[in-house]
Amino acid sequence: MSLPANPNLPAVIVIFGASGDLTRRKIIPALHSLRCSGALPDFCRLIGVGRTEMTDEDFRGELLEGIRTYARFKPDICDTWPQASQKHSYLVGDYDDPETYRRLGERLEEAAATCGGPGGFLFYLATPPTVFATIAEQLGKAGLADRTQGWVRLIVEKPFGHDLASSRDLNQKLHSVFSEDQIYRIDHYLGKEMVQNILTFRFANAIFEPLWNRRYVANVQITAAEDIGVQERGGYYDQTGVVRDMLQNHMLQLLALIALEPPTAFDAKSLRDEKVKALSALRPAEAAHTVLGQYVGYTEEKGVAPDSLSPTFVATRLDLDNWRWQGVPFYLRTGKKLAAKVTEVVLEFKQVPHLFFPSTSAFTPNRLILCIQPDEGVHLRFQVKAPGSGMLTSPVDMEFHYDRAFGEKALADAYERLLMDAVNGDASLFARGDEIERAWTVVEPLLKPVPEAAAQGLPAYEPGSWGPPEASRLLARFGSGWRKYCGWQGTPACERAAELAPGACGGPSGEA
Ligand code: BG6
Repeated sequence: MSLPANPNLPAVIVIFGASGDLTRRKIIPALHSLRCSGALPDFCRLIGVGRTEMTDEDFRGELLEGIRTYARFKPDICDTWPQASQKHSYLVGDYDDPETYRRLGERLEEAAATCGGPGGFLFYLATPPTVFATIAEQLGKAGLADRTQGWVRLIVEKPFGHDLASSRDLNQKLHSVFSEDQIYRIDHYLGKEMVQNILTFRFANAIFEPLWNRRYVANVQITAAEDIGVQERGGYYDQTGVVRDMLQNHMLQLLALIALEPPTAFDAKSLRDEKVKALSALRPAEAAHTVLGQYVGYTEEKGVAPDSLSPTFVATRLDLDNWRWQGVPFYLRTGKKLAAKVTEVVLEFKQVPHLFFPSTSAFTPNRLILCIQPDEGVHLRFQVKAPGSGMLTSPVDMEFHYDRAFGEKALADAYERLLMDAVNGDASLFARGDEIERAWTVVEPLLKPVPEAAAQGLPAYEPGSWGPPEASRLLARFGSGWRKYCGWQGTPACERAAELAPGACGGPSGEA
């Protein structure tokens, strides 16, 4: 194919898996919102490739429904769709059939001709992971990965492999067609504003970083709790389980950003080098420091095996062997059907060396809480003197919240940021191949079937709880406890949690 190279011309976006859920719920609403906010220059054409028979009109209808339901800017606020929709077309075909790629090549040439030549091609693999390698190979064979005529990038969704060996194998297969700098592996948590804010918070302020180490931090807790179950994804989830679905990727990415050393620059290489160093300092997870669980009713979900031993909850203690973090436990927990939808990182600081206030004071350690979602923000918990005679202390919070400081709708959806970066060629917020392999090494010990689980089943937990009681006992063994989250007072999450467990919210920040 011969295309005029011109980096200033708009991109052609090709989505494989175009008839799937991810396209309708995330990718197209994100592109629509980017267009509405003016954050992304318009693209030349969007070609959806899928196995389901569909006309262009049907395809556009589905996308519009996705925009109406999921986009940050609904069509009644921003009506760019009627015009933009004309650039969307659909191509039906099998992913392993060379004919699909021959026809795709023709479409790309047509698009190039109408747009005066594309600035580049962005291929988005929103398909099941079983066909990632096939699509990459076929793109290569059809000459569509050739970047002598302009840039060519490949976005790959998760899961990236199902263990260390398969992720290595996938990396090798992709690298036989695309170079590492062309591959953009999505971890949508990195697109979340508060996750990026971890770097700003740590490295744009002089006052926190000096405390960010083993001398002052007693432990770090990372929670990603979901109140929903597996919903319609029972089939996928049952093959995957919580360790592969959340711990290996999102949770370890959060941990890496909390633990890493200051990068020398905010660019893809510096940042990802530091993340790899932090992940390399992590000891592989230990079964003895881990609790797996399954919610009551999981095995009755559609697509789930009646005798399934797939965990829907994990809590684990991880340790890093390096100068900054030696001896500081990182406690991670994540699961489905828990008491609230919340992701937060808590740095719990050590006690003061000598406490001379009355023992009746309500004393909790200083805590820095990074609220990743919902109600994105930061809380710093410290002690003040309670009003009145005597010297009683009381814990209070200093807080920052994005919506109060920057207004509602100020935060873009994670996919908006990631798509924009991929079009602009910035891979900083995408995972590199060695990062992913390192993360698999850490969780690999938790992927083997647990012999006791086979005999007795996994520890069960009630929907709406915080997981199996063993998770609390795990931290108690190390002299700690999970921060009792019940939402920040006055927020919907807090009201919901209070309904589930009346009286559980105490203290000015909703902390029990
Ligand atoms: C996905 C997992 O990667 O992340 C899902 O596959 C999970 O099972 C989701 O529900 C959670 O993402 P978020 O952004 O809602 O916290």
